[in-house]
Amino acid sequence: MPALRVDLGARAYPIHIGAGLLDDATLYAPHIGGGAVALVTNPVVAPLYLERLERALRAAGARAITRIVVPDGEQAKGWQTLEQVFDALLAARCGRDTLVVALGGGVVGDLAGFAAAVYQRGVPFLQVPTTLLAQVDSSVGGKTAINHARGKNMIGAFHQPLAVVADVATLDTLPERELRSGLAEVVKHGFILDAAFVAWLEANVEKLLARDRDALAHAVRRSCELKAQVVAADERETGARALLNFGHTFGHAIEAGLGYGEWLHGEAVAAGMVMAAELSVRTGTLAAAEAARVRALLERARLPVRGPSLGAERYLELMQVDKKAARGRVRFVLLDAIGRASLRDGVDERLVREALAAATR
Ligand code: NAD
Ligand code: GLY
Repeated sequence: MPALRVDLGARAYPIHIGAGLLDDATLYAPHIGGGAVALVTNPVVAPLYLERLERALRAAGARAITRIVVPDGEQAKGWQTLEQVFDALLAARCGRDTLVVALGGGVVGDLAGFAAAVYQRGVPFLQVPTTLLAQVDSSVGGKTAINHARGKNMIGAFHQPLAVVADVATLDTLPERELRSGLAEVVKHGFILDAAFVAWLEANVEKLLARDRDALAHAVRRSCELKAQVVAADERETGARALLNFGHTFGHAIEAGLGYGEWLHGEAVAAGMVMAAELSVRTGTLAAAEAARVRALLERARLPVRGPSLGAERYLELMQVDKKAARGRVRFVLLDAIGRASLRDGVDERLVREALAAATR
């Protein structure tokens, strides 16, 4: 299958999608440069895929490979682990031509990407995502970050990779809950941008849950195509890229309100999308039958369609700190139809309360 391209002029890059690509040295060869590689991964992914990737990188021309194994989990996306990465890079005398390769999910990708963005003022970077969420979302678009005690993803940089290699066969080993969490971002891309893709998902959601490789490859490819178009039009999120945050304003409130890690990101986004669809019905942009389709597809993907009962006051308070809040006013991504979204501020708080009541436990 030919690679997709993220069209960003001089920083354009390919996204390779398929089963078995992890071992394909030809995909890495154009990016090896002087031969120094720093491979960042974690103790869950390393035993599964590290040796295979190292073999392919060596076949592609890598001479010195520095392994950096960081702890697993969202807590690893912080200063301490970043220090660990810098320490390892410096100890191995990695210079500015070192290629940083992220092998893992969104946590490893965001952390390694941020390290690459700032190490010696920026070194080249390659993404090898191994979760569905990372393959359809976090590895594409150049957002990199670590968390701060006061907020998730608050310290970061835009740093586009040289390439993304998404091997859908690596999803075979992904825990079921993580697969479903990634599916939330897949259907999100359909809801905001592509009604035909939503119809395809409605017909194929069971195949995706059963990890049918052709279905997964199609879903990853269409998701990446849609995200790549948005990123190419608005790399720095001054406009249309904010649409990718459909369901995230409510979803972030769920994650923060429960404590990060209680619900997976995609689970919170799923309930958040139902809330946003309910709000879209109440602001008069979306037909109730279309909101029902949003809910039904998420239910069939075995994702939560109701948020936890944090209380409306707490939801409203948590949504105020969302990164998209402009001058203290919360902005929502709402649906105008299945496959079409827009960013709105000045939404009547009474309607937000009604939407919350309709989609919380
Ligand atoms: P994750 O990276 O924590 O991975 C989930 C779990 O799966 C981890 O335990 C991981 O070790 C394990 N894992 C990874 N690949 C595996 C495989 N093939 N087989 C078995 N286990 C495997 O979580 P995630 O959902 O991939 O990413 C979440 C992160 O992504 C969050 O920090 C979020 O902020 C970030 N994110 C970033 C962007 C962006 O644009 N940069 C977009 C969305 C999310
Ligand atoms: N995940 C949202 C974005 O990349 O902009």
